This record gives sequence, C-alpha cells and structure tokens, in this order.
Amino acid sequence: MKKVYSILLLLVFWVGIISVPAQKNVGKTSTKDAQIEAKVNALLAKMTLAEKLGQLQQLDGDWGTGEARPEQLELARKGLLGSTLNVRGFKGANDLQKAAMESRLKIPVLLGFDVIHGYRTQFPVPLGESASWDLEAIERAAHIAAKEAKSTGLHWTFAPMVDIARDPRWGRVVEGAGEDTFLGSKIAFARVRGFQGDDMSADDRVMACAKHFVGYGAAEGGRDYNTTDMSEQRLRDIYLPPFKAAVDAGVGSFMTSFNSLNGVPSTANPFLWKTLVEKEWKSNALVVTDYNATKELVNHAIAADEAEAAMKTLNAGVDLEMVSKAINQNGEKLLKEGKITMATIDDAVRSVLRAKFRVGAFDFKPIDEAKQKASILTDENRKAAREIAGKSMVLLKNDNNTLPISKSVKSLAVIGFLANDKRNMLGNWTADAKPEDAVTLMEGLKNKLGSSVKLNYAMGCELKCTDTKGFDEAVKAAKNSDFVIITAGEDADWSAEAASRSDISLPAGQTELIKAIHSTGKPYAVVLMNGRPLTINWEAENSPAILETWFSGTEAGNAIADVLFGDVNPSGKLPITFPRSGGQIPLYYNALPTGRPFAEKDKYTSKYLDIPNTPLFPFGYGLSYTTFKLSNMQLSQTRIGKNGTITVSVDLENTGKRDGAEVVQVYIRDMDASMSRPVKELKGFQKVFLKAGEKRKIEIPIKVSDLGFYNAQMQYVVEEGQFRVMVGTDSQNIKDEMSEFFTVVK
Ligand code: BGC
Repeated sequence: MKKVYSILLLLVFWVGIISVPAQKNVGKTSTKDAQIEAKVNALLAKMTLAEKLGQLQQLDGDWGTGEARPEQLELARKGLLGSTLNVRGFKGANDLQKAAMESRLKIPVLLGFDVIHGYRTQFPVPLGESASWDLEAIERAAHIAAKEAKSTGLHWTFAPMVDIARDPRWGRVVEGAGEDTFLGSKIAFARVRGFQGDDMSADDRVMACAKHFVGYGAAEGGRDYNTTDMSEQRLRDIYLPPFKAAVDAGVGSFMTSFNSLNGVPSTANPFLWKTLVEKEWKSNALVVTDYNATKELVNHAIAADEAEAAMKTLNAGVDLEMVSKAINQNGEKLLKEGKITMATIDDAVRSVLRAKFRVGAFDFKPIDEAKQKASILTDENRKAAREIAGKSMVLLKNDNNTLPISKSVKSLAVIGFLANDKRNMLGNWTADAKPEDAVTLMEGLKNKLGSSVKLNYAMGCELKCTDTKGFDEAVKAAKNSDFVIITAGEDADWSAEAASRSDISLPAGQTELIKAIHSTGKPYAVVLMNGRPLTINWEAENSPAILETWFSGTEAGNAIADVLFGDVNPSGKLPITFPRSGGQIPLYYNALPTGRPFAEKDKYTSKYLDIPNTPLFPFGYGLSYTTFKLSNMQLSQTRIGKNGTITVSVDLENTGKRDGAEVVQVYIRDMDASMSRPVKELKGFQKVFLKAGEKRKIEIPIKVSDLGFYNAQMQYVVEEGQFRVMVGTDSQNIKDEMSEFFTVVK
C-alpha cells in the first residue's frame, strides 16, 4: 500500500499537480510531501541491499553519555545504521552525524530519545499534566520539550503515549492521559501538535511517536507486558481514537506495543499496521518496534527463531527495528528464500528516509555547545513548568477551608521523605533532567515564605516506611507548629515501566505516620506525590485536606507552595478514577449498564458484599478554593440530524470569594441503541476562569457525528433515537436540573 502511495505521489510531483498528499495533514503542503517522496525514491534507487537493511536498524547508544558506541560510529561510516536511541548532545550527535557524512550516500542517522514530559526542564508527569484539562498548556509543554530536545541534535521523541489506561495497577498509567477516550484524544492531538507543530523540521520541533499501538494499557491483571484481549468494538470505540487523533494531528511515527492483542503481538500484527494505520487512516508514518520487540516474538511463541520474527515484523508493515537485529541479520536470507520481497523492504526503507526528510535530518548543521546550553532549562521554561504544574494539581479534599494555609502562620511542620527529596519530584522518564535542578517542597516553601515562617522538618520515615523510629520527631515537629504539611505517596519508580503493583494503597507505615500526626489535633494537609490512583481510604475519610500533586517536575516545590498558600487556586480534575479498593479494578466512569443495576436493598443486583460500587474519587473530580454553581442548562434544539451540531449552554457562576477556574463537563448517554452503550461518556468540556462573583454563559458544541459507535458489523454508526445530556463539574455528581434529552433524527 505504501508503495502505491509513493508511486502515485511521484507521478503527481512529476506532472507538477498540487493534490492531496498520501498522508493526512503531515507537512505544510502536499507539494512538500510530493517533493520528499521524490527525493526518497531517488535515494532508494541508489541503495544496495546492505544499505537498505542498515536503514531498518535502530541501535541503543550510551544513555549516560549520550554518545554512540564505537561499533555504531563504524556502522554509520559505512552507511549501515538507520537510527539510534539515546544518542544526543553536541558531542554524541555531532560525532555520529559526521561519521554518517563519511558514508557513500551521506544519509544522516535519525536520532530518537524518550522526551516524555520534558527534556531538561521537566513538566508534570503526563498523567498529572492531563489533570490540568488545559489543552493549550499541554501543547505548550510539549513544544518547550521539543525545543530543548532539538537543540541537542535530536529529531524524534518516543512520545506521546496515548494508551487508554483503565487499570491503575499498571505502572505506565503515569505516562498517558488516563482512562477517557475523549479527553485522551484531545490530549493526544495537543501533544503531537506541541512536539511537531506544522513543520517538524523547524528548529523548535521534533517528530512525535504515537505509542504503544495498541491495547498496551489493557494488559490483563494490570501486569506490564501481559496479554490484552478485547472485542473489536471495544478496541475501536475506546482504544483506537487517541491514535487516530494523533494521525489527525499529523503524527510522524508510531511504535508497536509489547503485548499481544487477541493473540497476535503488535509487532507482527498486519491488522494493526496494514488494515488500520495504512488503509483506514491513510497514514504513512514511520513504524518503529518497541525495544527488542521483534526478537521477543520468539518468546511470544509465534516465531521459531529471529529470522521468522524478522519476516513477521516486516510483513506486518513495521519498518524499523529497535535494538534487536533480526531484520538486519536475516533480511538477505529471507529475501533469497522468498519469505519477504524487495518491495516490502523498499517500503520500510522509504518510511525511514521519509521521516529523515520530514525532520530535516539531511540539513544537518553541527550542534553548537553554547547554543545548546542557552536553549535548555531557561528561566522562561522553568516559569512555564511552574505554571503548568500549578494547573495540574487536584484538590481532593478540603474540610472547612483547611487550605489555603494562611500566610500569617508563624511555624510550619513539614513531614515526610518526599518533602525534601529532589529526584522524585521529576517523576519517571526524565530524559536529561538532573535531580539538582528540581525544587523540593521544602525549598519551595522557603522561597515563598522567606524567614518569616519557621519550618520544622521531620522525615518521619522513608518511603516504604517500615519502621516508626522517626515518628516521635515528626509528632514533636507537628506539636511545635501552627500547621502541618505531610507528604505521602510513591517513589517515582513505582509508577513507571515494569512497575505494576497488585496493591495500590500507600505503604501502611505512611498511613500510620499520618494517623500519628492526625492525633496531635493540629490542622494539617496531606500532599500526595504519586503517578497513579491510590486507594487512600483512611486519609479520604479522616484527613482535613488532601492535595494531589503527582510528580510535578522541575518546579514541583515552588508550584506546590503556590497552591498550598493560595497564590494559585487549584483547578485540576482527575483524568482517572481513584478506586476504594484494588478489588474494584477495573473501575471507570463510562462503564456499560447491567441488567441488574445496583439497588441497595436488592441482593440480586450488581454489587460487592463488602464495599460500595462507587469510586473513592471519580473521574473529572477536583475541588477549588472557591465554589462554582451551574444553572440554566439549555440545548440549542431537541431534535437534530446526524450531521448537525447541538450546543449545550449553561451559566457558570463563581459563587466564592476567590478567582478560580472550573472545568464544565458534558456527558452523553445513548438511551436506546442496537448495542448497550455506556452510562455516560464525556463528549465536551471547557475550562473556564472566572473572577470571584463573575457569572458567564458557557456554550459547548457537541457534534452528533461524535456520538456514534462501532456496531456488530464493525461499522461506525450514529443511531437515531433519544440521547441524554448531562452537565457537571465531575462525572458523578450531576444534578437533576443539569440533565436534558434530545432526539437524533435522520
Ligand atoms: C518502552 C518505550 C520506550 C522504549 C525506548 C521501551 O522499553 O516501552 O516506551 O520508548 O523503551 O526507550
């Protein structure tokens, strides 16, 4: 298929006609794409088989130094290395590209790296940033990350991860946008735009990578790398849309996922690459395997050896092999045996070369050390990181306005390991961030309060909190202070790759420490730092205030202090449900109804004997230091055609004494469809800033074409009939007067 596109585009270029490019929205104009296609084909025509197989190889440079290994430099000199991961920086990038320029065809090496939530300046972990529901801020963070990365010679980030994650046991929930398809798709679009802009060859942009295609977040048992099995409807309705949104934003690459989907590993799955990505979405983005994933097809037991693994990878429509060398070493043999064709190899090489032209790699200019230094961790970037971190924090509880803390307190006890730890502030996947760049909460408080407030720090215990030796000191600090801030949560490495947890509670000792502080009777706030939902039942029941800060990046401490003291009014909303117990997982707001919906007094309804069905904190939830009121909900019409747009309007009033932002959320339910449809689904939202006392009419348009689903015949359909619209400030507490009906007609 890719081959057909290439030939067509070449023809288009030759006759000089400007027409629609093969790939939607990639590059500024179709002319540019056609020009690239012509250059790709011209280069391809000159290549030997060995050079072609070299292009299909990505090798792992030295992560620590950012330099290519000697054997990689040698391969580049011979024109036998397509791409690297982890090679970066003026020395690493310059040496490798110089070596490539000594090769026969002078094809540069494509340099990729995991720039997940920042390069040197770290923004909140992606799940945290998603809690901002602020698409402009999210796009800006990706743009800054791209700019810093590009200054070090990188072309390509392995981000965004757009896997929908409904299982908080899976450590990689931290890398995505949470559980919801609609929010996740908007964020996927924003992140791809932020990384790539309109032109990924620009000085401040890199190529993005939609990963991990697909279903990686639905691993059974929440155990990383485990099997995924789901209906095609679920795949299409829930898991594919964020990837499609990435395509719509022009994403330049995809990554395979480690899991098998319905029995077929992604890296050898032609349905994913040929049917969905190429045919249905008409994307010719570069497809890279995940780390060693071709070789691992042998472990999946769908390939007897690496040669068969290479054959299945290439024939599935995957282009570039990360780290393992199965394609490179077996390509010639497979070709001779007729197990792969030259056309297949050429298609894969085209993808790699196309990406190199798109990112401007052929225009390599040596990286200048001084320029690189001046581009990263600038004051401006730190300022943006602080602002976005503030927007990402979610106020989970705030009895009797415990927060914000009055600036007239004389003393403050600060308890907990995380309050004084730099490394964890950065989260996981920290690219080139340095712990010493990070601002701890202690430092943030000092920066804010100067010497006017006495800070009494006590660690209490380490993160695993297995002994109580430090509790007395912590209690003493609390007793000697006007207010207590106690941090609790995870190590950044507990929510990451290969970091699944069967029990997502706080380590028991941490809760014991909080109980000890609680019993002093002092006012206190729990500041959570973590990368996944936690089952914090005791704290939710007993602690007066809880602020979820995730791992909020380089400026963590300053941003948390901003929120704790009310200089920033919290406005984050949970992008993922917090369950009461691991036994409820998977628990997500947009579930299908059952034939026996929960009824308290009827035993034979869907429920647990020991806990409620409801979450601890629902999707979309988050408090503010002010209060908001919704009223006067109206629909633009009550009957609407399938191509129409219905506008939901509502008055939002800031009824409190502080300025603040609220996220108005619109949920829809299809009341009577040919298949059971979710009890509610987010279909629109708007984050609105209002001054204290201000009231504004909010209008949120909903396209009827977005209300469809895949039916039993795998057709996307919007069915006629009644729909319910619900407006709220979270997914659970929707008042009766905030619900209306409309009918979709032909
Ligand atoms: C991860 C990917 C990552 C790659 C390269 C793999 O282990 O699954 O998300 O991009 O490593 O570092």
